[in-house]
Amino acid sequence: MTLRTDIAPWFPWTDRAGRASALKLVCCLALVAPAAWMALEWRMGWLSPKPFTDLVRESGDWAVRVLVLSLAVTPLRWVTRWNRLVLVRRMLGLAALYYTLLHIAFWCADLRFAWLQILWEMFARLFIAVGLAATLLMAALGVTSNDFSIRRLGAVRWNALHAWVYVAGLLSLAHFFMEIRLDATEAAMMTGFFVLLMAFRLVRKKWTPGLVSLAGTAVVCAVSTALIEGVYYSLSTRVAFSRVLEANFDFSWTIRPAWWVLAAGLVIALLAAWRNRVAPAPSVTRALAARSA
Ligand code: HEM
Repeated sequence: MTLRTDIAPWFPWTDRAGRASALKLVCCLALVAPAAWMALEWRMGWLSPKPFTDLVRESGDWAVRVLVLSLAVTPLRWVTRWNRLVLVRRMLGLAALYYTLLHIAFWCADLRFAWLQILWEMFARLFIAVGLAATLLMAALGVTSNDFSIRRLGAVRWNALHAWVYVAGLLSLAHFFMEIRLDATEAAMMTGFFVLLMAFRLVRKKWTPGLVSLAGTAVVCAVSTALIEGVYYSLSTRVAFSRVLEANFDFSWTIRPAWWVLAAGLVIALLAAWRNRVAPAPSVTRALAARSA
């Protein structure tokens, strides 16, 4: 289906040529769903007596999840060589920013828009100041996420600016850990996925992503996730570090984040192995020969 190209690129579900893209449509609907769910919870009165506090937490969780997902696009594209994935990268990055702005709006509503208190909290409470720094970075990336800015800055400077997304990710995760009161499961899981995605990028610089290198990376990242979680709990509670690590082998309550990180890493490793088998990447010599032919 082809739409008018002069207006079509403005729709979130059309590609650059103005054609409707099922991938973009599904991604767009999936990204709107959590906001629609929050609106429904609000409308139906399903939230606690402090609805804005609940909404601050829910929107914060989604902001981090979508941010981590946006960082997964490039590694997944390398592994699967499904280049159309790039179509949803900008949408995911902007959605992470929108959920962050929603999160801040709910927080301001929770404080009944008492601007002096809001301003004071932004600078006096460390975890809020860290969140603010992450938000400012994400906003700078969001306003330059367009073709005009790429042309204006040039590809090299634009890429250097957008590499700050990793710093925004780190600050967001730090903000998450700093406000936890009891349960660090989600924060440890998101941190584990972040570490996994960063590690895949490092691995790709040295080796062709294959089953062995990626599966090895998944194991290292899963162990790192367990260690991060262990350090967090042993510092914030009086539980011994070794007992927190042992909890990873108790499946009667929940499956700890390290296992989810391992599972995600192994799925990506298997995808890479399958892709290399179905369509091996052209070797450098073959690619050069093909070019000179
Ligand atoms: C000016 C910027 C920000 C402010 C004022 C802010 C404010 C807050 C507050 C007050 C909480 C505690 C909610 C509670 O437990 O009662 C919170 C939690 C949280 N924030 Fe932020 N935040 C900001 C930026 C961010 C950013 C950039 C992200 C991520 C992209 C983020 C993600 C989260 C997450 C994941 C939580 C924990 C939610 C949970 O407990 O499940 N925040 N934030």
